[in-house]
Amino acid sequence: MSKAATANAPQSYTLVDNTTGKKIELPVLDGTQGPQVLDIRKLYNDTGAFTFDPGFTSTASCESAITYIDGDQGILQHRGYNIEDLAVQSDFMEVSYLLLNGELPSVEQKKTFVNAITRHTMVHEQIQFLFRGFRRDAHPMAVLCGVVGALSAFYHDSLDIQDPQQRMISAHRLIAKIPTIAAMAYKYSIGQPFVYPKNDLKYAENFLHMCFAVPCEEYAVNPVTARALDRIFILHADHEQNASTSTVRLAGSSGANPFACIAAGIASLWGPAHGGANEAVIKMLQEIGDKKRIPEFIKRAKDKNDGFRLMGFGHRVYKNYDPRATVMRQTCHEVLNELGIKDEPLLDMAMELERIALEDDYFVERKLYPNVDFYSGIILRAMGFPTALFTVLFALARTVCWFAQWKEMIEDPNQRIGRPRQLYVGAKPRAYTPLHKR
Ligand code: CMC
Repeated sequence: MSKAATANAPQSYTLVDNTTGKKIELPVLDGTQGPQVLDIRKLYNDTGAFTFDPGFTSTASCESAITYIDGDQGILQHRGYNIEDLAVQSDFMEVSYLLLNGELPSVEQKKTFVNAITRHTMVHEQIQFLFRGFRRDAHPMAVLCGVVGALSAFYHDSLDIQDPQQRMISAHRLIAKIPTIAAMAYKYSIGQPFVYPKNDLKYAENFLHMCFAVPCEEYAVNPVTARALDRIFILHADHEQNASTSTVRLAGSSGANPFACIAAGIASLWGPAHGGANEAVIKMLQEIGDKKRIPEFIKRAKDKNDGFRLMGFGHRVYKNYDPRATVMRQTCHEVLNELGIKDEPLLDMAMELERIALEDDYFVERKLYPNVDFYSGIILRAMGFPTALFTVLFALARTVCWFAQWKEMIEDPNQRIGRPRQLYVGAKPRAYTPLHKR
């Protein structure tokens, strides 16, 4: 392939068939930031060939105006705003509005949005019976997948995806109800009664109350914990076309309703290579058990014959420190300090692990840095959340992004059903042999 752009013309690439000499122009698309994108939409028509990119390492699957990541520089921006600014100066409701609507809200717009979300925090009373069908020892992510998928069975009146008003109602319902469902999954797993939402509390406060209050005594939300949790929600809110978001978009491209699509996103998030990593980090640190054993685990992580990976390390896009991890590490210190936790062996071990890994050639050469999941579990543990709930909290925060990305796709006039092709490597045509002759 040779680059064939002229000074004033839009850039394009020329693909040359080395056998026939036939040339095909591939136009180049420019975004507002980031690498150029080769437009290969006509490639199959022009050449009869597909492209091959398992894992989508070189493929832009859509146009999006929501989030921008520069993985080499360690930059993450939502609608143009740096994540560090949003995490420190904004709050989760404001970031949710920004992701959904494209602009930061005015005072009045924020009030209206928060009111709309607050009005939808309760779930249909029948949903508690749905919970009772699950085993008490079920993983809360399994429960979350099931209950969120079931929401389309409860809220039929907002399922017309072509109606902007119904789309908005579904967005408000999902953002408002996901903390209620997540807290119910937790309460169910420990055999405590469900706690109804309290609408005089803010979003993160309400979630903490639903998780940790019991009917027999007063529960006062700790403002430090609430603020830190709100920040954790912001840090997890969106991350462009990752596995779970792409799952939501692909599911939605067939016209499926947003509740069903987001249940699919939750299923994808659960894997340890994605949102399940926060739970896996704590399990890994507990397994290491002592700083003295870190070199042994680093050695295992580098051994290609050992399936072990350093959880909370590495990222498909970031080849630099994940900016969310920087804020998360800082928040971790602040929270432990303010909660009066002087000695947290897991934090000491995490910092030592990070130090050793970042000096090791294997990690340096591959540009493997801590990601968002490396420190989040330590904070969540200090707040009192059990490990099994960590990925549920990730899903809670990511719901707004899934909705914003789904909505962007539905509103795109060029939207078509997602239908990847394949490189077929199976059997060639062959004659069927009847069973009695095999
Ligand atoms: N520990 C040890 N080696 C690693 C790690 C790790 N955590 N991550 C990547 N590598 C190595 C990998 O073996 C490969 O080496 P080589 O080139 O010699 O074959 C090289 O680095 C590139 O890795 P890759 O698997 O091709 O990279 P990827 O972009 O396909 O995978 C990843 C990205 C996040 C799945 C991977 O880094 C990983 O498994 N990390 C641990 C799980 C984790 O923390 N996931 C959370 C990601 S951030 C939050 C989220 O997305 O939800």
